[in-house]
Amino acid sequence: MDNYFLLFAHSLLRYGVVIAVAWAGFAHLRGFLGNRPILNGDRAVAIAAMVLCHIQLVIGLILYLINYSTYNSMTGDVGRFWKMEHIGTMVIAIVLVTIGRVSSKKAKEERVKQKRVAIFYLIALVLILWAIPWPLREVGHGRGWL
Ligand code: HEM
Repeated sequence: MDNYFLLFAHSLLRYGVVIAVAWAGFAHLRGFLGNRPILNGDRAVAIAAMVLCHIQLVIGLILYLINYSTYNSMTGDVGRFWKMEHIGTMVIAIVLVTIGRVSSKKAKEERVKQKRVAIFYLIALVLILWAIPWPLREVGHGRGWL
């Protein structure tokens, strides 16, 4: 069974996730390094990034469940990518973003808040960029940029 709408939404949302996680991560890193307070706008982006990640998680889970037998029967590098790497890495990245945001919110000091978002979001960003099936990769063969 295919669900083109959900697949397209998931595909498009990658850019929202990547841009928001990168923006929030770098803005908080800049504030931390430059000893400047967090701007409300940057905090809003950190929240938006977490929400987008959670939406992406739900869409991804639905896509995976409705096509479970297809992924399960895949073999080789591409099979391993869809059965383990994409899902496993993305779930870890989304957990990191969530921990970063929640622990930042709980922290009392401004610098600790900034450091937590900076570290957790930027590690998550690397994982997300790595686990996306970009068209130039073997696992992304035949896929587009959108
Ligand atoms: C930050 C998180 C995530 C990002 C940025 C992301 C990104 C992507 C991208 C770009 C595609 C290719 C779409 C296309 O070719 O049109 C894709 C496909 C897919 N993703 Fe994710 N994903 C994320 C998380 C997840 C999670 C958590 C799951 C499952 C629990 C998941 C399951 C899937 C499935 C099943 C497909 C479809 C593969 C197919 O074409 O048959 N994704 N994802």
